[in-house]
Amino acid sequence: MYNQLVSKDIKLAVVGLGYVGLPLALEFARHFSVIGYDIKEKNLTMLRNAVDPSGELKADSFKNRDILYTSKLSDLETANFFIVAVPTPIDKYNKPDLHPLLSATTAVAKVLHKGDYVIYESTVYPGCTTEECVPILEKLSGLKYIEDFKVGYSPERINPGDAEHSLQNTVKIVSACDDASLDEVARIYETVVAAGVHRAPDIRVAEAAKIIENTQRDVNIALMNELSIIFNRLGINTYDVIKAAGTKWNFVQYTPGLVGGHCIGVDPYYMVHKAAELKYHPQMIASGRFVNDSMGGYIAKQTVKRLLANDMPMEKARVLIMGITYKENVSDIRNSKVADIVAELLSYRVLVDVVDPNADPLAVEEEYNITLTPAPTPKYHAVIIAVPHREYLTLTEPDLEKMLVPNGLVVDIRGLFRTKIKHLQYWSL
Ligand SMILES: NC(=O)c1ccc[n+]([C@@H]2O[C@H](COP(=O)([O-])OP(=O)(O)OC[C@H]3O[C@@H](n4cnc5c(N)ncnc54)[C@H](O)[C@@H]3O)[C@@H](O)[C@H]2O)c1
Repeated sequence: MYNQLVSKDIKLAVVGLGYVGLPLALEFARHFSVIGYDIKEKNLTMLRNAVDPSGELKADSFKNRDILYTSKLSDLETANFFIVAVPTPIDKYNKPDLHPLLSATTAVAKVLHKGDYVIYESTVYPGCTTEECVPILEKLSGLKYIEDFKVGYSPERINPGDAEHSLQNTVKIVSACDDASLDEVARIYETVVAAGVHRAPDIRVAEAAKIIENTQRDVNIALMNELSIIFNRLGINTYDVIKAAGTKWNFVQYTPGLVGGHCIGVDPYYMVHKAAELKYHPQMIASGRFVNDSMGGYIAKQTVKRLLANDMPMEKARVLIMGITYKENVSDIRNSKVADIVAELLSYRVLVDVVDPNADPLAVEEEYNITLTPAPTPKYHAVIIAVPHREYLTLTEPDLEKMLVPNGLVVDIRGLFRTKIKHLQYWSL
């Protein structure tokens, strides 16, 4: 397989060209002939013009790549090594929504040949690949798993907005259905991952490894969020406490904050789902989710409490929220917890303006029914610095003062301005 890919006798396909699939497809397209398959025609048009719809990659990343962007099954059929990188979200009941994964699997199953490989990169619970995807591949192709086609799993670790940790310089976990195919899969990934690969002994081990990377972060952030609720009642600043505790060699520096996005706030629910099937009801993982999912409402209530303490009638209070993306310096708004702050403030009849230099106003309107304000219109009774985009980091106390009424409040969720603010009313997690 590897040699045929190098000689371009066969092609590699990436199914789903989003945050994960696109960089991977472009990296493989330096070495192999690649089919970039996606169902979003609008995005395919942008890709053909060397524009990354998510805004992560520059035009340079598209240069000198052997890649065909397509939504046609007849093009997908020309490949023999498939990598699936479609979304694995949760539904409104926080249960895994496998529709995109199963629909992408259906597409691959329709074009699968004897001897082909299918590698999943989408984040799933342990067992999902073999229990949910393999039966579809077998049924629609009429081929037999392992005997006729091979399956593997290789979770992605990219971190949007992070220039330091890339696909090339981060060790990648690979796994496959048997030893010989694991060798093949490892060799193929080693072509694009200079840092090398880690061979997991089993597909379920690789699936579980990905889930616990994010679950560990979620639970640790939840602990810091819970501590911040306690420290708030004590009247001490959580970030000051963390800084002090961080002087011990084995203290791990997690900080409180909003946990949004498509990974950390979603993946633990995949583990909870699988555990429930096994008749185990995880308490730690679920309580981490509970605490983190409550933080938007908590921050809004803390803001309202302080406005009320200033004798501010709620229906006249104006609040500016800076940032709505799920984290700083990205345009991704999926599972934005800032939307929870907005909803809670609106329930108190507060007037809310939201600005964000990176978010697409149309996408925000569509997803959350929130109209972004093009620029702040002072004066506000409170400014909430929700997402510390680099554009906001240079704000000074006089800048914030200009936006606020006298005795206005600065809410600094991430505590980044706590040493800069000397006179204004200030609160952080
Ligand atoms: N974004 C990250 O930072 C990150 C990191 C690690 C793992 N992951 C995981 O990787 C997977 C993909 O995430 P993403 O952020 O790249 O998603 P994304 O939404 O950015 O991209 C997914 C792409 O798949 C396409 N798609 C959806 N259904 C399809 C189908 N049936 N056939 C073909 N294409 C289809 C969409 O049009 C979209 O372009 C998820 O399981 C996610 O949890 C994401």
